[in-house]
Amino acid sequence: MNQLDFAGRHAVVTGGAAGLGFGIAQRLIASGGSVTLWDRDEAAARQTCTALGVKAFAVKVDVAQQPSVAAAVAATLAHAPRIDALVNSAGITGPNTKLWDYPVDDWRQVMDVNVNGVFLCCREVVAQMQRQGYGRIVNIASVAGKEGNPNASAYSASKAAVIALTKSLGKELADTGIRVNCVTPAAVKTAIFDQMTPEHIAFMLSKIPMGRFGTVEEVAAMVGWLCTEDCSFSTGAVFDLSGGRSTY
Ligand SMILES: NC(=O)c1ccc[n+]([C@@H]2O[C@H](COP(=O)([O-])OP(=O)(O)OC[C@H]3O[C@@H](n4cnc5c(N)ncnc54)[C@H](O)[C@@H]3O)[C@@H](O)[C@H]2O)c1
Repeated sequence: MNQLDFAGRHAVVTGGAAGLGFGIAQRLIASGGSVTLWDRDEAAARQTCTALGVKAFAVKVDVAQQPSVAAAVAATLAHAPRIDALVNSAGITGPNTKLWDYPVDDWRQVMDVNVNGVFLCCREVVAQMQRQGYGRIVNIASVAGKEGNPNASAYSASKAAVIALTKSLGKELADTGIRVNCVTPAAVKTAIFDQMTPEHIAFMLSKIPMGRFGTVEEVAAMVGWLCTEDCSFSTGAVFDLSGGRSTY
């Protein structure tokens, strides 16, 4: 494992109680920083904090609710002097079904968490980063947002929106000390697989030229670097993590 320099820095990781968010938090702490996990599952976030040690804090938040996100910023700044990095990892898949059968409420929920959640967290945290004159934002999009997976129209559309939001915000902040990037992972085995059908998981694996799923550690390595000061000339950019699936 390469040593990243996140010494003395503080990150907020949404969805940090589990999966990719947990792995990213672990990597940032191993790189010398501290982390606040924002998650709607308070019990899981507290358990994850215990596993991560004294450099981890937990705040209960629903990223889709603006008052909840605003309160989470205040709660975070009560124990951390700054928010140097924001990783937007909270996300859901929604059901795997054709668009014409897609339940309207499920569509809205996927958009609410995956798109509005990223918008709200960026909106509230950028204000703090502007006061600091420094920040790193990393949004976890997906290869589905580039390619459009069948039987996952809401998820694919939501992740395409995250990619576009990243490009817009990156340009808006390009003349500041804040960098905004996203990553587009192919499938990585986490609890999110429980939300998908076995057929959909098999479809995703079949599309990866390396013939395997990615690992949490591989995602954390790239996202960890994107959270450091060394990531200085990349903004509004989309970083691949797809085992060769992405062709652009
Ligand atoms: N694992 C993969 O194969 C994969 C691939 C590409 C992209 N992604 C994206 O990576 C991100 C993380 O995925 P994961 O595999 O770690 O999933 P996961 O289900 O393991 O973890 C997601 C976490 O987000 C939290 N969360 C969900 N909705 C929330 C809300 N409204 N407010 C606050 N917290 C909320 C959950 O409680 C959970 O702790 C997601 O955005 C997902 O779309 C995952």
